[in-house]
Amino acid sequence: MNTQFSFNSPTILITGGAGYIGSHTAFLMYKKGYKVIILDNFWQNQSFNHNWAQVIKGDFADKKILEKIFKENQIDAVMHFAAFIEVGESVKNPLKYYQNNVVKTLDLLEVMLKHDVKKFIFSSSCAIYGIPQYLPLDENHPKNPINPYGKCKLIIEETLKDLYNSHNLKFVSLRYFNAAGSLFGENLGERHLNETHLIPLLLRAAKKNKTFTIFGDGYKTKDGSCVRDFVHVSDIAQAHVLALEYLNKNECSDFFNLGTGNGFSVKEIVAAVEKILTTKIKIKVEKRREGDPAILVADSSKANEILNWKPKYSDLENILKSALHFENIIYKDKNYSEEVQKF
Ligand code: UFG
Repeated sequence: MNTQFSFNSPTILITGGAGYIGSHTAFLMYKKGYKVIILDNFWQNQSFNHNWAQVIKGDFADKKILEKIFKENQIDAVMHFAAFIEVGESVKNPLKYYQNNVVKTLDLLEVMLKHDVKKFIFSSSCAIYGIPQYLPLDENHPKNPINPYGKCKLIIEETLKDLYNSHNLKFVSLRYFNAAGSLFGENLGERHLNETHLIPLLLRAAKKNKTFTIFGDGYKTKDGSCVRDFVHVSDIAQAHVLALEYLNKNECSDFFNLGTGNGFSVKEIVAAVEKILTTKIKIKVEKRREGDPAILVADSSKANEILNWKPKYSDLENILKSALHFENIIYKDKNYSEEVQKF
């Protein structure tokens, strides 16, 4: 594939750009004509054979690497995806999360500011809200995260507000609801070692005729299982493009929810996967997973009004079929077959 950026294209540094949401965004930024530098430590051991970005293997807080990147390139903005992402794990091992997702992000911000890079797009999460006091969740909802993962995201959001005041760092913080699906045809998708996410695990259970575990069915929801707002990863990627345009045009910073406003229960997702694969999935119900709120559904009207963001790919069938498409790819990938076969 020929790269589309020209000599004068703005250069964007994308940490975690070889990961799930980061790679979809990096690809879209490239398609929009930006020069993309990906900094990723490849801890998921993922293969990443794409020539549309410059890929640097390293830690996002490695000051030597960052100094070199910022000295050698005129970085216009940083998009920061690299983070640990498992709510349940964060409850069991909080220090791992505070160290990686907070302390190291502060290091990254410090080097950015030293080099006078003043635009930052942050991968935040609906996990900052905690137990909903009303639904759907808008950006003004009280922030009472119930797990260290969400607390880390909130600490960085607060830090960003302070840096906006002290250093004029302009930022957009995008609060993702449940990212899902994949981009057809680009070998990009959800690929985690020790997968914990609902949709890939369900697809694997269906394909391998294994039992899928629902974590709790005694929640006060429509059918007792948790309800989530699934938003297609390509729609999330698009929001990053719009967020950067917003920072280019405005002298302010802001926070936006990214969801569809539709909540699906875990049991509804099971039924939808069964329908698509025309199969019955064996189910068992176990106790609740620590740190899981019963319902998370977004009010994204602010992103719609200010960024002109509208989800285009997020209907459930498209999410599931595109996720299945990628699951079929990684099933054949030698680097990954062991992990997937193990399931
Ligand atoms: N679930 C099961 N069984 C499984 C896996 C998940 O029942 O084997 C349930 C979970 O308990 C939860 C729902 O499916 O109720 C969704 O779980 P995921 O692990 O797919 O997603 P989470 O909602 O826990 O987490 C995701 C992202 C986080 C983000 C969070 C916000 O991974 O980064 O959404 O809620 F912060």
